[in-house]
Amino acid sequence: MDGNGRWAEERRRPRLFGHKAGVESVREIVETASEIGIGVLTLYAFSTENWNRPAGEVSGLMGLLKSYLQSELRTMVRNGIRLQCLGEQDRLPEDVGAVLRQTIADTRSCQGMVLNLALSYGGRSEMVLAVRELARKCREGILDWRALSEASISDHLFTAGQPDPDLLIRTGGEHRLSNFLLWQSSYAELYFTETRWPDFRKQQFLEAIATFHLRQRRFGRTGAQVQEG
Ligand code: IPE
Ligand code: MG
Repeated sequence: MDGNGRWAEERRRPRLFGHKAGVESVREIVETASEIGIGVLTLYAFSTENWNRPAGEVSGLMGLLKSYLQSELRTMVRNGIRLQCLGEQDRLPEDVGAVLRQTIADTRSCQGMVLNLALSYGGRSEMVLAVRELARKCREGILDWRALSEASISDHLFTAGQPDPDLLIRTGGEHRLSNFLLWQSSYAELYFTETRWPDFRKQQFLEAIATFHLRQRRFGRTGAQVQEG
């Protein structure tokens, strides 16, 4: 979800104004995704690198996150949305962490879409944590290093048990992954748009999904093989 700051600056308003507008996009995209039957939606809300932003912006974002969770709980439960967090939750301010844990607990039995919030998330740091855990399990004899597989790595990421993403959308005009789901996105279709996040609404989202459906996913095979099925 990129482009909030520039959206605000283009309107000669403070960056936080853009983040607030971005929350409206979040509501709309979550609702749309759940409506159209998406299984898992992941929103990259805050990266490990975002901790380096000015303290005022970081605390503004944390405040928005907390109020978003508090105001959305009822809607999530009503729509069967199960909240998960990807990232280093212990780095979040105590009050935000508490609301997050509570919301995750309160939506635990929801059976609809999984909503992953990537918070204090970084793809490389996620892999380091996974490797440490695998190393410990091998050392303690819980796992055999010779049997380590791609699945072993997937199972030790924050997304353990979830399918890999099919479509990765980046708004705001930059053409990079910025440390997002590096392992999981190996075969994701990438979709980049100039649209700033606060302007990315239902119509833009459906447009991205329509584009996705036009792509031929070959997973290394030839086009002819894919058509044969
Ligand atoms: C939102 O957009 C991303 C968050 C960290 C919440 P930005 O704040 O990165 O906006 P730009 O890139 O400065 O426009
Ligand atoms: Mg940005």
